[in-house]
Amino acid sequence: MSFKKDFSIGSLKLPHNIIYAPLAEYTDFAYRRLIRNFHSGLMFCEMIKMEALVREKSTKLLKYTKNMLPIGAQLLGSNLSVVTDAAKKIEDLGFSLIDFNCGCPVQKVTKDGSGSAMLKTPKLIFEILKKIVKAVNIPVSIKIRLGWDDNSIVANEIVKIAIDAGAKMITIHGRTRKQGYSGKANWDFIEECKQVAKNEILVIGNGDLYTLEDVKTMFESTNVDGVMIARGMLASPWLSSDIESYFTKKDKLNISRKKIILKYISYLIEEKKEKAVFDLRRISGWFLRGGKDIKSLRVGINGATSIDEAIKLIDRFNWENK
Ligand SMILES: Cc1cc2nc3c(=O)[nH]c(=O)nc-3n(C[C@H](O)[C@H](O)[C@H](O)COP(=O)(O)O)c2cc1C
Repeated sequence: MSFKKDFSIGSLKLPHNIIYAPLAEYTDFAYRRLIRNFHSGLMFCEMIKMEALVREKSTKLLKYTKNMLPIGAQLLGSNLSVVTDAAKKIEDLGFSLIDFNCGCPVQKVTKDGSGSAMLKTPKLIFEILKKIVKAVNIPVSIKIRLGWDDNSIVANEIVKIAIDAGAKMITIHGRTRKQGYSGKANWDFIEECKQVAKNEILVIGNGDLYTLEDVKTMFESTNVDGVMIARGMLASPWLSSDIESYFTKKDKLNISRKKIILKYISYLIEEKKEKAVFDLRRISGWFLRGGKDIKSLRVGINGATSIDEAIKLIDRFNWENK
């Protein structure tokens, strides 16, 4: 498969098969307001713990506007007793799809068996997925890593489990839990998963997609049904629209990094008020890369103590050819 217009995940129709990943502490409401301008096929909120979702009235992490649709919510957890309520709540909130997180490597998450620790309990993955599928009418998907470590690669097994449980899509991040986010993602395993899946479940490739070339290579080398872009989106939020333009032979969007960052700041201020500078610093670490002089701006923003100070630095910066 390659880029595909009118891509369907079960009953859900997407404009295409380039998906923007869930990123905890990044893909919040302000950030999603920014990326919705860049035409991803599907975007996600940050992951949310099922217990918290069921217990708390607040669904702040899940706030979205209609122009962000189609949008997915991602559930995290390993407690079977809250699965049905959590899934129903997501559907009631109007989400397009529910994804189940079996990839988060953070110790705080894995210590109760959640996130990537789920890869050690495939049977529980089956039970949770089946419960979600039974609870809702929207499509259900799962996102995994290859396994806990090199000695326990289970991705193929989880593909079969996801099919049996009735999931419509599986995203495979080509790293193990032990790798964290370092080293290279192993796309060979993703290719193998696609072979195992046949056409019984959609397989989405994830890991190390930063450029159009990366995406083309992943499609060619793995034959996946779609791709999910994570850190590449933080570095180049417009990447999805570039990919779409290339494959549909449309003109590329006219990108101005300065306009993008100022727009993002305006969204941040609305959401975070005086705390906006902290989020800006974090995003700038990704967004302001590629060259010595842009590094000076990145370092400047990283040291800024107020959003006004950061805006002054941005205004004074020479954006020519950036
Ligand atoms: C800061 C950060 C936050 C992340 N949060 C989530 C998350 O909430 N849910 C999830 O499934 N994956 C999460 N991931 C993993 C990414 O979605 C993706 O699988 C991973 O970064 C590999 O893709 P990449 O190499 O293109 O970045 C996160 C990754 C990073 C770096």
